This record gives sequence, C-alpha cells and structure tokens, in this order.
Amino acid sequence: MKLEVQKAQSLKPKPEDESKLGFGRIFTDHMLTIEYTAGKGWHDAKIKPYENFSLSPACSVLHYSQTIFEGLKAYRTPSGGINLFRPWDNFKRMNISAERLCIPKIDEEFALEALIELIRLEQDWVPHSEGTSLYIRPTIIATDPFLGVRAGEQYLFYIILSPVGAYYASGLAPVDIYVEDEYVRAVKGGMGFAKTGGNYAASLIAGEIAHKRGFSQVLWLDGVEKKYVEEVGSMNIFFKIRGELYTAPLAGSILPGITRDSIIRLAKDYYGVKVHEERIAIADIFEENEKGGLEEVFGTGTAAVVSPVGGMTWEDKSIKISGGKMGELTSKLYDKLTGIQYGKEKDEFGWIKTL
Ligand code: COI
Repeated sequence: MKLEVQKAQSLKPKPEDESKLGFGRIFTDHMLTIEYTAGKGWHDAKIKPYENFSLSPACSVLHYSQTIFEGLKAYRTPSGGINLFRPWDNFKRMNISAERLCIPKIDEEFALEALIELIRLEQDWVPHSEGTSLYIRPTIIATDPFLGVRAGEQYLFYIILSPVGAYYASGLAPVDIYVEDEYVRAVKGGMGFAKTGGNYAASLIAGEIAHKRGFSQVLWLDGVEKKYVEEVGSMNIFFKIRGELYTAPLAGSILPGITRDSIIRLAKDYYGVKVHEERIAIADIFEENEKGGLEEVFGTGTAAVVSPVGGMTWEDKSIKISGGKMGELTSKLYDKLTGIQYGKEKDEFGWIKTL
C-alpha cells in the first residue's frame, strides 16, 4: 500500500509551558488514516491535516461499540532524538483485540512504518521536559451506516498524537485506590483482555463513585467471586510482599500490558526479584499488610508509567502502603524503565526503535 502525505497549510503553535500539558487534550497538526472496505481490504493510507471526521449518525461504532485502540509513546532523548518503546507490540496487541471484536486485522509492519513517517513529520511536537512525551493513539472504528447488529464491512484505522505530561494530576505522588466490590469490569470469556472502548465505559460508574469518595482509581476484583485482584483499568497492578512481586495472571479478563511485561522482565532479569503471575486474594493482601508483609503497591501502564499506590480501601478497611510514599523497588523500576524509554540507559532488551 502506498502512503500519501498531505501537509497542513498552517501549523498550530506548540504548547509553551510543558509543565501544563496534562493528558490527552492537545493534538498535533497531522493524523494518519487508512480505510477498509469488505472485498477490497485496507486501502487509502493517508497522512493528512488533523481534522474532525464526517460520519453517519447510524455508524455502527456509535451504536454497538465495535472499536479498538492502542496507547504508546514517543520519547525525546538527551541528544534531541526520538525513541519509540516496543511499538511492534502495540500493533501485535491491536490485532489480538481486532480478532475478539471481529475487526479485520491490520498489516502490523505497514502500520509501524506509517506511524514512523507520521512521527517524523510531527517531530517538533515531541516535548522536551522531564516526564513528558508524545502519546500515540491508534484506533479502529466500524463506520458502516447500518443499524443491524453484525460485524462491520467498513472501518477506519487512524492514529492521532497528543503531547502529554503525567496521566494523574498528582504526578508521581502515590494514589489512593478503592477496591470495587459491587460492579465488575470483565469476566473470562468477555472482552477484558482486549483494548476496546466498552471495557472503559463499563468501568465509569465505579470510577465516579470512587472519585466522590475521594479516591483516584478503582481496583477491580475478578468478575465471578469478587475475591481476586485483577487490574486498575488504566493500569495493571503489582504488590510487593516479603521481597517478591505478585501480579494477576493473563487469564483473559485483564489487559496484557506492555509496561506490565516490561516491568516483569526488569524485576526478574535486572533486579533478580521473584515475580509471581498468579491469582491473589484481596483478603490475603490486607492480611499481609496486618502482618507487616505488604511492602509496596504500584500500577503500570503506558499512560500511567509506574505509579505508586499509597493507600487502599476495601469494604470498611483502609490501609496505608510504604508510609504513603513511593517504595524503593517501585522507584528503581520507574527509573530503569523511563531511563530506557528516554534513551538515558542502555536498551539491553531490544525494546527501543530509534527514529
Ligand atoms: C494507556 O496506558 O495507554 C491507556 O490506554 C490507558 C488509558 C489512558 C485508557
């Protein structure tokens, strides 16, 4: 497929104060679009000026949520270059989500080449300040103007770019999370492992309730017994108990996070920490805390990076973790991961694509 490039006539001013970027509100001058039509496959790949779409109000994504997305980042290196972190894994995961949502698969290699071309064109949008990056959002939506429930025959794949700072307004300060014991996010056999809008829509009600009670995030328990910890929605979660790390296994209901996988490999291969990918009961975590065994809790995600958890509330019990501060291992893992991403540390794992 050929990639056509239409450059914008005028460029938007770049954000002057990078400390005020926040997350996901500013978009760059260009975007990538590729169309799909049944019988023809993916076609018309274009980099073009960022603009609103014109879609039929009957368009099936708007009614039945046939959509998937990804999240990755471009990082500014000390020499002014640009790094992408494991971008091939995002397109691979996008195709896994595509299969679950009956969306036609993309050509992963072409998508990566097109993304690289887009980032090269938008390179001045990759911010320079510490903790900032250019967030990349590949998305696919079903665009058929048809109200029947069936897999679409027309799709739009697009990538938009957004210069960002920290995902949480509190930055790296530990967040307080609320363990949700009424609603569930996903069950085995559902869509929990896919990066699809519906999973996030399903999580909103618990998020709203948690916010009203003063918590920034919700920790989901398994959808059947409401007993075992799963994920936080915007991030996977890790518990350090008596020197070893525990995280939920990839058993179909949680997102297979690329940051999750990177942290497991760094913890094991770089710091020699034992990592257990197994079911952990929330009751056992609270009990370990009573006995002094719970040492650190943190979340991982592209947007959230490595985010310390300072407190957890489950039913009527509230606990403080690491004295409400970022734990030592959390801090080491954060430094190592971001060191590799920003090109300050050697990439021993082959994770970086330099532009
Ligand atoms: C990410 O970490 O990239 C995510 O997709 C999480 C969230 C912003 C939806």
